[in-house]
Order: sequence, then C-alpha cells, then structure tokens
Amino acid sequence: MSAALAFEDVTKVFANGSLVLSHVSLAVAPSRILAIVGGSGCGKSTLLRMASGLDAPSAGRVRLDGAAVTAPTEAIGLVFQEPRLLPWLTVRGNVGFGLEHLFASERRERVDAALARVGLADRAEAWPRQLSGGQAQRAALARALVARPQALLLDEPFSALDAITRADLQDHLLELWAELKTTLVLVTHDVEEAVYLADEVAVMAAKPGRIAARIAIDIPRPRRRRSPDLDEAARAVAAALDAALERAPAHSRHG
Ligand SMILES: Nc1ncnc2c1ncn2[C@@H]1O[C@H](COP(=O)(O)OP(=O)(O)O)[C@@H](O)[C@H]1O
Ligand SMILES: [Mg+2]
Repeated sequence: MSAALAFEDVTKVFANGSLVLSHVSLAVAPSRILAIVGGSGCGKSTLLRMASGLDAPSAGRVRLDGAAVTAPTEAIGLVFQEPRLLPWLTVRGNVGFGLEHLFASERRERVDAALARVGLADRAEAWPRQLSGGQAQRAALARALVARPQALLLDEPFSALDAITRADLQDHLLELWAELKTTLVLVTHDVEEAVYLADEVAVMAAKPGRIAARIAIDIPRPRRRRSPDLDEAARAVAAALDAALERAPAHSRHG
C-alpha cells in the first residue's frame, strides 16, 4: 500500500511572526522516494511535521492521495533523527505502543513481523538502553512500519550514526522499500545519501524556506555507491545546494 503525497503551495508562519516556509509545492508519486536536502534551519523538519499532520500549514495544504492531511494518521509514519524510544518499555513494548486497540494476538503478530523486517527479531525483549545506535533506529523504523503507513517520512534518520552503520541502514531501508513499496520522503543533509536513495532530490533554500531546485535521479537500482553516474548526480545536487546557500561552489572555495 502506498500513496501520493503532495505539498500544495505550503506557507508556514510561526506564532512569533517568523516566515519559515514560503509557497512550497512538491509532490511524490506512490512508491517513489523523494529526498529533501537543505541547510540547517531552512524548514525541513517543519515541512515533515506538516506532512505528518503534527502541525498545520498557515496557507496551502498537504494531501495524501488527494485527501487533505489535517491530523496525525496511521497512513503516514514519521521517524526522527533520534529514535525516541520509551525507556520504560522493551523493544516489543515500544513497537506495539500504538496498537492497544488491537487484540493481543494480532498486536503480537504485527510487532513480530515488524521486528523481523528490520532484523531485530532477537532483540524484542531488550530495553532501549541495551541497543546500539543502529539497533535503536531500526526499532524506531519498526515502530513506524507496524502501523502499515502508506507514506513514510524520515527526518535525518541516519545522521547520528557512524558511516558503516549508516550505509548498512540505507541499504536496509531500500530493501524494506522494495518489499513494501511505501512512498518515502527522506530529509537529509548528506548529498551522497540523497542520490543513493532517491528518485528525486528537492533542494531547499532558506529564509524563507523554499524549493530552490528539483533534480531527478534516473539511475536504475540497485545502485553502486561512488559509481560515476551517482557521482555526477551528487555533483549536480551539491551545486544546486551551493547556489541555494548563496555560496561559492566547493572547488572555488578551496582554491
Ligand atoms: N515552533 C516554532 N516557532 C518559531 N520558530 C520555529 C518553530 N519551530 C521551528 N522554528 C524555526 O523555523 C526554522 C526552521 O526550523 P526547522 O524546520 O527545524 O529547520 P531544519 O529542520 O531545516 O533544520 C528555524 O529557524 C527554527 O528556529
Ligand atoms: Mg531538522
């Protein structure tokens, strides 16, 4: 199950009067992967919060398969940079936390399936503090997947992890996506990650946050890290990011 997600002319002004997002229009087709890159503070997390229904646009709207998103819904999952696991619940308890409305047997079945999907079947009874960073983020992913979302939003999900764990989880995310075909929106500040994972990269400019460029990554999967075509795509995204940040391109910055 997967759905189209669209930002339609979204503007966000916070209560303090600051204009954080201005006229953002962006769409991702069902079962596609969109990456959003942009400098710190340009409004990426704000955009995802609105996509998830946690916060409302000041103007414009977010739609999931045509229906306006006005409140958090099981159809849209959200994973943050930090795993945000409840320390007083086991991994199983955390993953099953939102499923109290189900019978215990079905809840257990779904939690077990989600844990198996993320490779944590043997850690179900562990406590969050006993997990490595990568395992904790896998648990957060399982908690999002257990609701069977049609779209999954990921806010810099791997940026707190070391490079090897990060690469491992990127590949794992692609495997999950190939299986579930959930629509994915991934916020990252890692250009390599964006071009490795995404079908399209949206580059944001700041103050106010807006879409500065959209770059299609038409490279068939499985992709090879550091292949020439991926490198070329990364250079295009980095150049667009430089332009958005209004700074000189890397080669002239360093002489
Ligand atoms: N609730 C809020 N009230 C006022 N300003 C906010 C609020 N939340 C975020 N901001 C501001 O909006 C801007 C964008 O924040 P954020 O979406 O977190 O950026 P990013 O995720 O791209 O780093 C920042 O300048 C931040 O300080
Ligand atoms: Mg953020």
